[in-house]
Amino acid sequence: MQIDKYVPEVYTSLPEKGSVSWESPSNIALVKYWGKYGEQLPKNTSLSFTLSNCKTTTKLQYTKKEEGDFSFEVRLDGELEPDFRPKIETFFKRIEAYLPFLRSYHFEIETSNSFPHSSGIASSASGMSALALCLLSIERDLNPEMTDAFFKEKASFLSRLGSGSASRSIQGPLVVWGEHHAIPNSSNLFATQYDGEVHPIFKNYQDTVLLVDVGQKKVSSTVGHNLMHNHPYAESRFAQAQENIVKLQAILESGDVDGFVKLVESEALTLHAMMLTSMPYYILMSPNTLQIIEAIWEYREATGSKLCFTLDAGANVHLLYPKAEKDAVLELIKDKLVVYCQKGQYLCDNIGLGAKKIAQ
Ligand code: PMV
Repeated sequence: MQIDKYVPEVYTSLPEKGSVSWESPSNIALVKYWGKYGEQLPKNTSLSFTLSNCKTTTKLQYTKKEEGDFSFEVRLDGELEPDFRPKIETFFKRIEAYLPFLRSYHFEIETSNSFPHSSGIASSASGMSALALCLLSIERDLNPEMTDAFFKEKASFLSRLGSGSASRSIQGPLVVWGEHHAIPNSSNLFATQYDGEVHPIFKNYQDTVLLVDVGQKKVSSTVGHNLMHNHPYAESRFAQAQENIVKLQAILESGDVDGFVKLVESEALTLHAMMLTSMPYYILMSPNTLQIIEAIWEYREATGSKLCFTLDAGANVHLLYPKAEKDAVLELIKDKLVVYCQKGQYLCDNIGLGAKKIAQ
């Protein structure tokens, strides 16, 4: 089987203890992943920008113990975070076949985010990928022959089992996850760096995240993905995403920013349309999300700007724009958009190159 290569040889000896740290960024999908099957496999291909400033830093300390139950403690900004336990427990169960030392250690996981806690921005992508990278580093120490390419592939494979979108946070600046006939080496099992031609205009894109609602999501992504089973529009949505990948390839190559605006906004609204038409149906956008969208459209109409928006599974709005428009867009935010942000909060980011190991 294709996944056998991720199962390591039996370890001959395990270190008594150690410590490793990684920082891993969030990412924002241009063509969205929404709907999965099997063990965290995507129903369609997705393509994302990796971010730079929005990231999670995780330090993992490990101490050998009798083999037995999983044993770990998790802290966010120094405080024990019991709410994180179930997700990590599920993650450990899914990955133990690929990291057989998991039951032989007690782990102290210390994590912090560069963005406000529960800001609704994709902390599962950065958080799960940072943890996967720390765990895989332990295996790499046992097997120094592991190549960089294999390390990145397996890190993405493991991250995917924590959160689908996390598979796309290992590398940058553009990353593809999910098999696609037009993208050689694309895989459902792990994400890869997008290696098609990319016009310079897309090389320093900005993403300013307007924090519209920083509370807990009303409906989790897990529930949302599951509602794509038996969804009346699911099959046509998956087919549309595959077509949008081909369209986006051409847009990225030619530098067609108008085409980019149309495709990216349509993808965002389609994601939310899937939620609106699920059974049970639900709405994650808030009135302020719509106010911001209207304001962007008015601004574009009035100025010819190439500013566009995209959305994750939440109310926050990601503003995507070329670097040359940075000053003007920041003006627009201060004049017209900040009133729609919770406590006036927004985060300035730009595309980045992926996760980094932190020297200790
Ligand atoms: O990674 P998950 O399972 O939380 O799914 C998130 C999916 C979206 O963020 C809504 C879209 C995407 O492709 O990132």
